[in-house]
Formats: sequence, structure tokens, C-alpha cells
Amino acid sequence: MEFYEVIHKRRTSRMWTDKEVALEAIKRIIAAGMKAPSWDHYRNWQFIVLHSKEEKEKAFSYAKYIAERFDISKYENRALNLAQKMYAYAMPKQYTMLLECPYVIVPLFQCRKLNGQWVSKLNPLTTAWCVAENMMLAVINEGLGYSLRIPLNQEHNIVLEKLGVPEGWMTPCFIGIGYPDKNELVLEQYDSNPTGHIHMGGW
Ligand SMILES: Cc1cc2nc3c(=O)[nH]c(=O)nc-3n(C[C@H](O)[C@H](O)[C@H](O)COP(=O)(O)O)c2cc1C
Repeated sequence: MEFYEVIHKRRTSRMWTDKEVALEAIKRIIAAGMKAPSWDHYRNWQFIVLHSKEEKEKAFSYAKYIAERFDISKYENRALNLAQKMYAYAMPKQYTMLLECPYVIVPLFQCRKLNGQWVSKLNPLTTAWCVAENMMLAVINEGLGYSLRIPLNQEHNIVLEKLGVPEGWMTPCFIGIGYPDKNELVLEQYDSNPTGHIHMGGW
């Protein structure tokens, strides 16, 4: 696929078909992640790949709890902006969007504790997001789709413990990969036209 076509086609999916994904495609997607820029030049990343339903059920029980606890009634019978509509749509799917796709990749980066005092202190996390974005674009290039969950607060440690990840490693996100359900609702987006966002020579 042409690069800007990949950029244009990228979107988050949360509903899947039953079609299996080739493990070779998952390996190419991880290889794309490994090509990301790294703040310390080490490329010190690991990737847990979950495939069986049991593995995903075990890992994402907290997301199930969050999705089931979500009170959709707060979003009904009132005007919602596009972000609120996205939230109301996405929240109930936080578990199934990981469970029902063939693969979930959990990228891992080495870091004992995040320090947000300065943006440069967050370089380990920022780099991991470069890895994640490379993988998301590679997913689209493969003709697949992805779901994305950022673990909420303690969910981070709960999932990593269930996956047996050693101390000193963190994850930025969980990336579900599959063939998206073509009937899935495509959420309305705010305009991505850069006009009005560019400040030549200073703000
Ligand atoms: C940092 C970040 C965190 C996100 N967290 C979640 C999440 O936890 N669950 C989810 O369903 N989508 C999540 N998303 C996906 C966004 O909802 C999505 O990118 C946004 O609504 C725009 O839609 P699009 O990706 O289809 O263009 C996240 C995206 C980013 C960049």
C-alpha cells in the first residue's frame, strides 16, 4: 500500500470477523515495531503475543470489569459531542475488542518507574509509543485492523503480573489485531485538515 494511503486508512477497530490472521503477518508487524526510533539506541523491547481465547481471558479480566461497569445510561437522551460519542461507543467494547480478535500484542519497554517531570524523562514511554505507532501502521498495510487499549491505572500491573512479566518492564498499550467487521460503525471525526493548526515562525 502507498504510505499516505496507509495513513489515510488507519483507524481504530473494535469489532471483528472470525477470519484467522497469519502468524507471519504478526511477525512482520512486530518487525515494523522494532524499526522504530529509540531514545537510547538500544531497541530494548519485548513483545508478548496472545492468541488463544484462554490467554486473552486471563490477561484482560480487568478490561472486562471496566466494560461491564460502564454506565451507558449517562450518555443516553442528551446531545453528545464527537468525543463523547466515541467514548460511549468504545467503552462497552474494551474487553471484547481484545478478546474477539485473533491476536493481541503487548509491547514491553524497560522502565522501573515513570517520571513525568520533564518530557525528556518520559523518553522510554515515548519510544514505546513510536513502536506502537509503527505496528499500527503496519497492521493497516497488511489489510488488517487493530484495537488499542491503554491500561487504566492499576490495570497495567494486573495484566503484566498475569503475563509473568519480570519487574522493571512496562507496556504503553495492548494492540488487538484481526480482520475488522466491515459493518462496524465508523465514528464521525473532527476535521484533520491542518489549516488553522500551523504557526509559521512561532505561535
Ligand atoms: C494514547 C491513546 C489512547 C487510547 N486509548 C484507547 C482505549 O483505551 N480504548 C479504546 O477503545 N481506544 C483508545 N484509543 C483510540 C482512540 O479512541 C482513537 O484513536 C480515536 O477515537 C480516533 O479514532 P481513530 O483511531 O479511528 O482515528 C486511544 C488512542 C490513543 C492515541
